Amino acid sequence: MEQNKKNAKFSRVGIVLAAAGSAIGLGNIWRFPYMVGENGGSAFLLIYLLCVTFFGLPVVCAELFAGRNGLGRWALVRDMGVLAITIILGYYIQVAGWCIEFLLCSWHPIDPNHFAEFTTNPWHVFGLSAANILICVAVLLAGVKKGIERASKIMVPFLFVILMVMILHAYFLEGSHAGMRYLFQLDVSKITPQVILSALSQSFYSLSIGMGILVAYAGYMRRDQSLAGTSVLTIILDTLVAVLVGVVIFAIVFTFGINPEEGPGLVFVVLPMAFSGMHIGTWLQVLFFLLLALAALTSLVSMMEAVVSYLIERMHLSRTRAVALTSVVVTALVISVIIYPVLWDIFDRATALYLIPLGGLCFTIYVGWFCDRTQVLAQIAPARYRWVSRCIYGLIRYVAPIIILVIFINGIL
Ligand code: PHE
Repeated sequence: MEQNKKNAKFSRVGIVLAAAGSAIGLGNIWRFPYMVGENGGSAFLLIYLLCVTFFGLPVVCAELFAGRNGLGRWALVRDMGVLAITIILGYYIQVAGWCIEFLLCSWHPIDPNHFAEFTTNPWHVFGLSAANILICVAVLLAGVKKGIERASKIMVPFLFVILMVMILHAYFLEGSHAGMRYLFQLDVSKITPQVILSALSQSFYSLSIGMGILVAYAGYMRRDQSLAGTSVLTIILDTLVAVLVGVVIFAIVFTFGINPEEGPGLVFVVLPMAFSGMHIGTWLQVLFFLLLALAALTSLVSMMEAVVSYLIERMHLSRTRAVALTSVVVTALVISVIIYPVLWDIFDRATALYLIPLGGLCFTIYVGWFCDRTQVLAQIAPARYRWVSRCIYGLIRYVAPIIILVIFINGIL
């Protein structure tokens, strides 16, 4: 393990971009808008932002700390995380495959039935998933520095450029004001325990936390880099993408009279319909699905890397063997989800609602209560920003664990 870590370190920017590349994914572009739609618009957004600040930030720091300093007797948390990631991969790869399909078709108007047609063809879906697995294998075999860092350095900035073009366009749409109102005009009556749990789980899902992904990445982080800086930047980038995508999507939704509560099909069924009615719709459609496919890919790479580095450290496999084993297991899972589609919902709920918040909770308890306080404070931020370290430490030790537990119990009862 030591060798694995010594050989490759992310640069300062590299770790932020890699963490952001992992965080920014289908969770922001596909899942976030329909969660907003299903959970009361602005009410969900407000709770989401609070969750990101008060629970997301401490969990990101705690995970990075655990990754840098080891989990000791708490290694089980990482085992649970790797289990969650593997389960998520079973369906995430499929959605990533849909993105490639839509990207390939996006040069022409897409028939609204296209989604239903190709997703019921198991070979088609499998072929697309396999393509994604192969791309990930290539990046992972290239290693941390040449593979993950380089891929993230290209893809993440590109993603922002695409998003900016879309925002500019959305601004001039007729429904942009209604969309903004839906997202930003607060309606407190819509806040329920279920909305709060959904926002919490969405914030963790979107930041890729609670599963040990950052534990894996922190192993490749320089020792002198502060945890708070890396965490804050990652969180800002991830949240920015989610909110900006929300602005674009709801501007389109309200311009074309689409129901915001459309659910998981929102992006794949509804948006192409809207694009086909737009002036430069084809171009926007190409850009949008390119954005989606790239974001999905960087997240996929991070998930597979978490499993691979776990196998290297825990089972002392070589990188090549670990990558091979991971791809075989993941392919088997993808096939089972294709054959038994009910597994999809079970996988999504089991991970997003239960395993991930539970993982986050464990990381904060471990770092807040079982690690050396001076060490944690020193690594969170440099000595001159002592107050930052103190605030974040307070969140890690008291606020995050207690509130996550309360929300969790309230939401499942
Ligand atoms: N955060 C990623 C997204 O928003 C999803 C993800 C979940 C990535 C779990 C890694 C682990 O799409």
